[in-house]
Amino acid sequence: MNNKTMAERDLDVIWHPCTQMKDHEFLPMIPIKKGKGVYLEDFEGREYIDAISSWWVNIFGHANPYINEAVKKQLDTLEHVILAGFTHEPIVRLSERLVKLTPEGLTRCFYADNGSSAVEVALKMSYHFHKNQGRERPLFVSLTNSYHGETIGALSVGDVELYKETYKPLLIRAIQTAVPKDQTQEAAREAAEALEVCFTTHPDEIAALIVEPLIQGAGSMHMYHPLYLTLAREICTKHNIHLIADEVMAGFGRTGTMFACEQAGITPDYIVLSKGLTGGYLPLSVVLTTEEVYGAFYCDYKLNKAFLHSHSYTGNALACAAANATLDLFEQENIIEKNIKTSAYIASKLEAFESLENVASVRQCGMVAAVELKGYDSSERIGLKVYQYGLDHGVLLRPLGNIVYFMPPYIITTDEIDVMMDTAYDAIKQL
Ligand SMILES: Cc1ncc(COP(=O)(O)O)c(C=O)c1O
Repeated sequence: MNNKTMAERDLDVIWHPCTQMKDHEFLPMIPIKKGKGVYLEDFEGREYIDAISSWWVNIFGHANPYINEAVKKQLDTLEHVILAGFTHEPIVRLSERLVKLTPEGLTRCFYADNGSSAVEVALKMSYHFHKNQGRERPLFVSLTNSYHGETIGALSVGDVELYKETYKPLLIRAIQTAVPKDQTQEAAREAAEALEVCFTTHPDEIAALIVEPLIQGAGSMHMYHPLYLTLAREICTKHNIHLIADEVMAGFGRTGTMFACEQAGITPDYIVLSKGLTGGYLPLSVVLTTEEVYGAFYCDYKLNKAFLHSHSYTGNALACAAANATLDLFEQENIIEKNIKTSAYIASKLEAFESLENVASVRQCGMVAAVELKGYDSSERIGLKVYQYGLDHGVLLRPLGNIVYFMPPYIITTDEIDVMMDTAYDAIKQL
């Protein structure tokens, strides 16, 4: 079996996510045979450094021996059981650990199986919380340039036109308030003032503010100062509006701390987690919330206040085993400390990009670094050119328009960072 045969079979039957399929008339489909550490290997033995952690999920490398063992062990014990009325040991252990790890006051775990579904859970739960308290609040606020997933509710609170525009007639009610324009404290203060105005303009209508703490991923890796989160928390509390921290991408060490909210010293009303939760192995997501929210749903059945939301694979036991193994690795290997060194090395390499003529700016937050290109319009699809150059030179880069970014697994070595970033540098230079 070679790449070509596998690619042809694929294109005969599969409609790929986030893809204009016609592009594959000129873009090769890359069939992956196996993965090891930061490397993916195709059917002809060619290796690619996974610089984007396979859509930001993989934090400890592909085929990680420790996570593999944990999943194999679980497989022979229990693969899955309905989570309504039943429970299992891996989910109980995982939930106890998440309650300890996440910001103080988040004590209840509600599971789903991907980031978008968990965002839906948080939105519905917040709306329903207010309803259970006798308040009708059908409006959500999010930040300009935000991304929260592709299901209808998640898309409604997002603000990336490319994904949202077509579906506008289908969306639920959401408005946007300005995201801080850069990583300065001044920008954070300005945006907080705009938030205050937004809340005041819509009294008694808003259920929650949803934010991607510190980094807007799909929104061009835009980054802002933690002060904004501190101020947003204060303003939400003042107006009795929930704060939803969507840490689907930011959670589990990406921004430099275990959770981005820690850098602002805040507890949101909901934290939404997925991606790195299982080390990038299996689909799982969770919303952690407070006793106050949980308590508003807790009553006799006939009062019809229960949160009757479910997904068949909620709390899958194999996914929970992968998640527990992932948390073990954080504990055993002092990952957050190690990442400080790795991100400092990435920062040192990032400087070189600033001198390139076609680079507008560079930015970094923890284990995410981005290079913004200038001088191109979107019809030129320069991101695609960088992507193709990367593949030809053994690196999976997947620019977002004119943003080339790095979000590798945490186990990446300095030699591998050299290859990843030098390849991107050369790709940008030859554009
Ligand atoms: C911040 C954020 N929220 C939600 C999602 C949606 O997660 P999923 O793709 O698992 O549905 C993403 C995905 O990239 C994300 O970055």
